[in-house]
Amino acid sequence: MWADAVLFSAVGDPKFDNNPSAKVRPEQGLLAMRKKLGLYANVRPVETFDCLVHKSPLKEELVRGADFICIRELTGGMYFGEKYQDDEKAYDTNYYTRKEIERILKVGYEYAMRRNRHLTVVDKANVLASSRLWRKVAQEMAPKYPEVKTDYMYVDNAAMRMIQEPKFFDVMVTENTFGDILTDEGSCITGSMGLLPSASTGEHTPVFEPIHGSWPQAKGLDIANPLAQILSVAMLFEYFGCKEEGALIRKAVVASLDANVRTPEIQVEGGAKYGTKDVGAWIVKYITEA
Ligand code: IPM
Ligand code: MG
Repeated sequence: MWADAVLFSAVGDPKFDNNPSAKVRPEQGLLAMRKKLGLYANVRPVETFDCLVHKSPLKEELVRGADFICIRELTGGMYFGEKYQDDEKAYDTNYYTRKEIERILKVGYEYAMRRNRHLTVVDKANVLASSRLWRKVAQEMAPKYPEVKTDYMYVDNAAMRMIQEPKFFDVMVTENTFGDILTDEGSCITGSMGLLPSASTGEHTPVFEPIHGSWPQAKGLDIANPLAQILSVAMLFEYFGCKEEGALIRKAVVASLDANVRTPEIQVEGGAKYGTKDVGAWIVKYITEA
């Protein structure tokens, strides 16, 4: 029987990270799941919490109020294109079809229509053929969404603009690899990797997962921030139209931050110590009593 949705946590293990000849890696399982479920659209909101703006390495005035969504293509590009590796040479193919590009751009436009009607298509069309097709398709689609201001940005420039002027962005849409890299950068705007949720949607059962990987070094220490995971649950509810439930989870998260019930990496100096379990329990209590 199909599940209606999957709530996923994270994969990864350092014992594989520095072993280029490992035959099997935990990441393969995650990629296979994304591919098999046809989850081509990964929605990664980058939002700031007022009480955490000082946690960003960027200046407060730059990040306060920053709020954009990165739509990352998730089942194509270099992650899945033909690969080859021997001891002398190796390659990955950044393969995209028109159909794959059209459907992800459509998701980008739909989000832009529901938000501030500004879509930034991020590519590397000055160098990559795959990116030139992205830009061509985007230019063909743009007139169908006259209410949306579409702009095109090279990924190197986008990486710079994100830290120079994060408030410039409303919705950004990009290929798999660029989206992976840019969203880690996005977490610096928010202040912690432990704060960014995501929704992977497409043809079959959607998967809701934090953008962070696993953190094996923190195993058993009760210090990992559960908020990205909890906010992924909010996205899950919202996906099914349960707006109130989603809003309540978000409210509980903000309340926990305001009450300084935070994991160590975002705790205020001299603030009380809370672990993963404490934060989770506090939020559950807040929601049950609401
Ligand atoms: C992510 C992660 C994954 C990715 C890894 C774990 C394969 O970094 O979801 O961003 O690269 O897609
Ligand atoms: Mg990543």
